[in-house]
Order: sequence, then C-alpha cells, then structure tokens
Amino acid sequence: MKVIVVKDYEEMSQKAFEIMASVLDAKEDAVIGLATGTTPIGLYSKMIEDCKKGRSYAKVKTANLDEYYGIDPTNEQSYVSFMKAKLFDHIDIEQNNTHIELSNAKDAQAECDRYTALLEKMPRDIQVLGIGSNGHVGFNEPNTPFGSDTHVVELTESTIKDNSRLFNSIDEVPTKALTMGIKQVMQAKKIILLANGKNKAKAIRDAVKGKVDPICPASILQLHPDVTFIVDEDAASLL
Ligand code: PGA
Repeated sequence: MKVIVVKDYEEMSQKAFEIMASVLDAKEDAVIGLATGTTPIGLYSKMIEDCKKGRSYAKVKTANLDEYYGIDPTNEQSYVSFMKAKLFDHIDIEQNNTHIELSNAKDAQAECDRYTALLEKMPRDIQVLGIGSNGHVGFNEPNTPFGSDTHVVELTESTIKDNSRLFNSIDEVPTKALTMGIKQVMQAKKIILLANGKNKAKAIRDAVKGKVDPICPASILQLHPDVTFIVDEDAASLL
C-alpha cells in the first residue's frame, strides 16, 4: 500500500488524475471503476478538461461502485444522474459503455447477481474509491464480510446522516442501496482511494494502520497488491 499525503483537495485531484491518465495512456479501451460522492468530483473535472484537450473516451468502459435502491434512475439524486452531471455528459463516452446497478430493478438480488457477472466479464484496470467516515467503501458498511459479492445494503444511520446533506431532508435519503461487494472492489488491478478533510482522519488511520478487520471495510485494501491512498493533510492527520 502506498500513501501519498498532499496539501489539499486540488492536489489530491491532480495526483489522482495523473494516475488515471497513465492508465488511459497505456490502454485507450481501459475499464475504469468509478465512485460517487463529493471526493472524486475534482478528478472528474480534470478528466473533462483532458477530453476537451483531445483525449477520446469513446472506447473507455466504466463500472460504478454503487447505486441507491428504490428511486428512479432519472431522480436527480440517483448515482447514475450524478455520474452524468459530473462526468459522462461532458466527455465523448458511449452511454452503452457505462455501467451501474439499476436503482429501480424489480428484483434487487437478481440485479446484484447480474452486476457481479458483468464485472467478471470486464476486469477493471483501475478502481477509484472514496471512503466513508465509518470506513466504508462503496456501500460496504462496517462488518460486511470481506468475501461479499454485489449485494443489497440497509444503509447505516451514520451513512444516511452523511448523505442527507445532499437531500432536502433526511427523510428523503433512500434506506437501501446496491453495492459491489468487497470481493469485486478487490478484483480491480489497481486501486486509488481518495480522502480529504478531518472527518475522514479516523477512517484513514484505521484503514492504513489498523488491523485488517471488517469493522473497517477499507482495511482490506492493505492486502491489495496495487493500491494508492491519496489523502490531504487533514485526512492524514492521525497517521
Ligand atoms: P464523500 O463520500 O466523497 O461524499 O465524502 C465518500 C463515501 O461515502 O464513500
């Protein structure tokens, strides 16, 4: 595990972009795993600039980590809407090449199984991760078994509270989500985990220095052969 401590959000986004660009330079049809949340928005802005400057994303494939369950995909709070607004609508990616769990699938478990099988068929060259203040990756909340496949999650109160800032009220936050399991996260060839801000400091400490234990889902990354944490000074403050 490599840990890069940077000054601030801008530098974190730049470093992440450099690693992403090196993957895309090597392979124009790379499969990239993406994340939602406020953390990767700076990285996505840099990918948009990169496309404007001439890189084509037409052959790139994407697979997102997770999606809320029980809302319509067209709802502006869905993660597919987020990805369109923050990245896909601004680059020349083919919509058919972008993948995410279906937020209104009739059968949630069948949708998870479909996604697990899809990820088997398109191994990711890189996976971008954020981290929850409770150490979650994707929506793999504390105590999720490390061997889990894509699954349905009851969101914890702490995650509902963290995410409520993006909704009009806490009551509108969906209580369920579909997420890649830890197993799928670990299948990516290369992983970058981004974190900024003091509220991530404990999760970063537990992930980097703690015991590898499902109580901190991100701690499993200590066992991945090619993972880089890019964290700002606040998020690194307990290391
Ligand atoms: P954030 O979310 O980027 O909005 O902090 C990260 C996460 O919960 O994984």
